Amino acid sequence: MHKKNTVFLRTFGCQMNIRDSEVISGLLQKAGYRISATDQDADIIIFNTCSVRKHAEDRVWSLIGSYKGSKVIGLVGCMAQNYKEQAFQRDPHISFVVGPQDIHKLPVIIEKILGDNLFSDKNLLERKIWETAGDLRPEEIYHMDFYQDKNHAHVVISEGCSNFCSYCVVPYVRGALRHRKHKDILIEIREVIARGVTKVTLLGQNVNAYQDSQVNFTKLLEQVNALSGLKEFDFFTSHPKDAGVDFFKAIRDLEKLVKRLHLPLQSGSDKILKLMNRGYQAKDYLSLIDSYRKIVKSGRLTTDIIVGFPTETDAEFNQTYALVKKARFNAAYIFKYSSRPGTEAAKIIDPLKQAELEQRHRKILNLQRSISQELRSSQVDAKK
Ligand code: 5AD
Ligand code: SF4
Repeated sequence: MHKKNTVFLRTFGCQMNIRDSEVISGLLQKAGYRISATDQDADIIIFNTCSVRKHAEDRVWSLIGSYKGSKVIGLVGCMAQNYKEQAFQRDPHISFVVGPQDIHKLPVIIEKILGDNLFSDKNLLERKIWETAGDLRPEEIYHMDFYQDKNHAHVVISEGCSNFCSYCVVPYVRGALRHRKHKDILIEIREVIARGVTKVTLLGQNVNAYQDSQVNFTKLLEQVNALSGLKEFDFFTSHPKDAGVDFFKAIRDLEKLVKRLHLPLQSGSDKILKLMNRGYQAKDYLSLIDSYRKIVKSGRLTTDIIVGFPTETDAEFNQTYALVKKARFNAAYIFKYSSRPGTEAAKIIDPLKQAELEQRHRKILNLQRSISQELRSSQVDAKK
């Protein structure tokens, strides 16, 4: 057995990836590796990556290139699944490629890659391994003794997504929706509470679709709320087509649940929503948030918007603009559409001019900034 090496993990993307990196750190520490906070003293660099937009991928390719083969490089997460063996052609300095469903195999894979003597092995680059598309991740990975924040733990309740929004790469790279057993989720939360954690965030691509035998998401929220020792919890992220009155009542009634909802809208145009395969119309979204606000008085509301989806006309963009103006979100993440190979939307060839995309992005960003500002100052006034 060789002397164990030092690993630096760089994480990109969503909270699910941040949690996956904690799991990877825990697994590698258990296998005897040292986790470093910088790349300088590390001999292995693991990139835990995101493929949701091209920009995020470009940054990773350029960072990997900057090491020029001076370290052992691993590509992990969504980009690994997206590129598979092509990643080795794209950058020959990559030594291993491991998709999100296979992160539990990392200690074994790295062991094989390193052999007995790191860097003296001339065949290192010939012995690349990529493993992808395992089904369920083993339950043990969620009970690793590694949580970055001593007070706040992120707990995965479901993996993958089966919604196939036409622009989104997630169902392809993270696979179909799978639910963890509610009993296992509660065991993990009890474990973190026993370690001193007081705040928990439940994670899934669409938490509202959670279902494990008789336990749906609202039931799960009730069970988590009942755990003694837990002070506060929230969840991320919701889908309008699966959200409803019972769920809003749970947000209102469960005293430990943070009064906040992130409900991605994506577009205010019915034509674009249909092309996006979102499963609701603008009027449905408006009545949903109306009901949320009536039930959860002064609850926060945030959203995601994509501008410049293929074929989006000025008039359709203006419908999104008008809806954002009407909805008065506390905050919104506004994204420029990014074409993702393999998705349905990528087949629609109608690129918007870059200048126009930037303009729509800026316009809606400015609108949301002023709304957020107004809401913040009215809250401050209310507290005075
Ligand atoms: N282009 C731009 N934004 C996207 N999102 C998902 N896929 C894309 C894409 N191809 C955004 C959506 C989603 C958020 C996490 O990322 O708004 O809600
Ligand atoms: Fe992507 Fe839609 Fe699933 Fe969210 S719900 S992860 S946008 S496919």
